[in-house]
Amino acid sequence: MNIGPFTLPNTWFVAPMAGVTDRPFRQLCKALGAGYAVSEMVTSRKDLWNSLKTSRRANHEGEAGPIAVQIAGTDAAMMAEAAAYNIDRGAQIIDINMGCPAKKVCNKWAGSALMQDEALALQIVEAVVAACVPHGVPVTLKMRTGWCQENKNAVSLARAAESAGVQMLTVHGRTREQGYGGNAEYDTIAAVKAALRVPVVANGDVDSPEKAREVLRYTRADALMIGRAAQGRPWIFREIDHYMATGERLAPPLVAEVKRMLLDHLQDHYALYGEFTGVRSARKHIGWYVKALPGGEAFRGHMNTLAQSRQQLQAVADYFDELGTRMDRVPADETQADNNKEEKNMELSA
Ligand SMILES: Cc1cc2nc3c(=O)[nH]c(=O)nc-3n(C[C@H](O)[C@H](O)[C@H](O)COP(=O)(O)O)c2cc1C
Repeated sequence: MNIGPFTLPNTWFVAPMAGVTDRPFRQLCKALGAGYAVSEMVTSRKDLWNSLKTSRRANHEGEAGPIAVQIAGTDAAMMAEAAAYNIDRGAQIIDINMGCPAKKVCNKWAGSALMQDEALALQIVEAVVAACVPHGVPVTLKMRTGWCQENKNAVSLARAAESAGVQMLTVHGRTREQGYGGNAEYDTIAAVKAALRVPVVANGDVDSPEKAREVLRYTRADALMIGRAAQGRPWIFREIDHYMATGERLAPPLVAEVKRMLLDHLQDHYALYGEFTGVRSARKHIGWYVKALPGGEAFRGHMNTLAQSRQQLQAVADYFDELGTRMDRVPADETQADNNKEEKNMELSA
């Protein structure tokens, strides 16, 4: 699949998640088979560009391309400036966020709130496209199915965005009103796919290779984006890769491999955030890796008592060494057992 001039190695992508998909995590996902990654969103507010948080988000040192940066905001001119600012800092693709339901974003009439005002949404798309075209930078858009159950306007907005020059569109199968509740719905994604010529990416609740295949089949989308299921389980991308190629499940990773992966991830994480912030913000990642493992909950609690990277690394190494005495591989994820049920549900709703 292509986004503008960029050819991607596969069609399973890691979804942008603020506070999660920082450069170390994106690099890890790409190394483990994600075909594409979008950075965490960068605000269009200029006064925040020099903040540590934004400058970390705009740092792409050593990251494999294409470098895609997501921007969020409510003002067309400011969004165009934000696009130009990020292009100057290495962005090769600009993604517009109309999918994030967070209050911080929605109160300012940005993110998925923009879906309620199609005219403004379109103004923003047009301004960002105009800012990117001279640089040969493709613009993509991420949205939800609509604002609420009664107003699912993804298809009309997607059509308008395509006409305005958007080169790829991602749809999360929930309305803004739903937040992350309920189940993702794939009929609207299928309708968007049927209505557009540019590639469409399906997103929402994909948590296993089987579900990945089923969502692709059902929606006929060109690609998938995976968010929460990749937290603490970045190897899901190679599992999908393997399943798509062979129709069979790849064995879960060895305990020793997960140990090495997490220790490397932590080192990269501290290098980006520094000792103080790094140790604290690494806790959530560690928690996700061990969540489904024996003694994981207790270990998570123990992590909150450690304040130095040295202690954190040692505790992680000890935990996995001990686990390795009891099992070779981490357990297969629990969703496997439910997959037949999920496939049936989707067939039923077809
Ligand atoms: C912690 C978190 C942060 C997120 N941040 C963003 C964001 O910055 N931009 C965005 O477009 N979507 C954001 N999302 C939404 C995800 O990209 C994705 O659409 C959503 O999680 C559904 O996919 P999933 O079911 O695979 O997780 C975020 C989701 C989570 C859980």
